[in-house]
Amino acid sequence: MSKRDFLSTADLSRAELDDLLDLAARVKGKRPGQVLAGKTLGLLFFQPSLRTRVSFEVAMVQLGGHCINLSSDDLYELEPQEQAVMDGPAEEHVKDAARTLSRYVDALGIRSASRTGTWDRDRQELLVRSYAKYASVPVINLETCFAHPCQALADVMTMRENLVSLRGRKLTLLWCNHPEPKSLGPTHSMLQLAALSGMQITLAHPLGFEVDHEVLEKSRAVAAEAGGSLQVENDMQTAARGAEVLYARSWGSTRHWHDPEREAIVKRSLTGWRVDEQLMASTKNALLMHPLPVRRNVAATDAVLDGKQSLIYEQAANRAHVQKALLMHLLK
Ligand code: CP
Repeated sequence: MSKRDFLSTADLSRAELDDLLDLAARVKGKRPGQVLAGKTLGLLFFQPSLRTRVSFEVAMVQLGGHCINLSSDDLYELEPQEQAVMDGPAEEHVKDAARTLSRYVDALGIRSASRTGTWDRDRQELLVRSYAKYASVPVINLETCFAHPCQALADVMTMRENLVSLRGRKLTLLWCNHPEPKSLGPTHSMLQLAALSGMQITLAHPLGFEVDHEVLEKSRAVAAEAGGSLQVENDMQTAARGAEVLYARSWGSTRHWHDPEREAIVKRSLTGWRVDEQLMASTKNALLMHPLPVRRNVAATDAVLDGKQSLIYEQAANRAHVQKALLMHLLK
């Protein structure tokens, strides 16, 4: 049997999503015991993490297994290109690292969301996809510039817990300001799963902060097929009106991907893209979501983040539950 990876939410069917989230709800209600006893998950972080790292470690330990955690400081610089002449700084090819690690661990989780210069290159998720190609054990995407599937699973679980059925519910995915250019991963993966769930999605961002064209068009088609819709809005007040869920997150400009200094200049005029009580008042008593970490009083005010409509810690908590379900699905 070929190994299973979890790299994207784009390939999930509605039945697979339901199965994973049903299992997550069951493990949240009652711990399943030591079902992964003796199993080891290798975690490779090329960027910082609080939630992803800790929630995977906790999930694995509570299922009876354990984790080995490596950061970029522990690893050789890796070459992901096929047939590269390795006379540059990269000491090891991904194929050698992946094949070696597969002999030690039962699954690999990888976070690699660094920018290499062009969006056309970074949208290919070269490092994670290369690991998946050469590892003989399951590979889990822990966030790239393009996708953050584990976050989106937790987010959809959180929405279901609060709204029960998501079909036809109004979700506004709102760009908000941030001093740094952020990954598009959480936004893309959330778009894909909200579309699959048949939600009425409004994607709101200033001009210049368009998401990946292919993700947008595929999600639009999936939403329509599932009985929902997807529209883009460039005015945040209009986008927030009537929303039942307001999901705030910043993301980098694919237009200025190669030029973060230019993006920073553009963002000087976008400080108004911040969620506050006034914006929340124009929604339909919306639930507020954000995947964290959040820049308080830049992306959203303390009042709304700490307000009674905020689900930010429920989302973070559900990371552990969906990841337990995922690990059981991939490893049992
Ligand atoms: N939301 C999320 O992935 O958080 P971390 O970056 O802390 O892992």
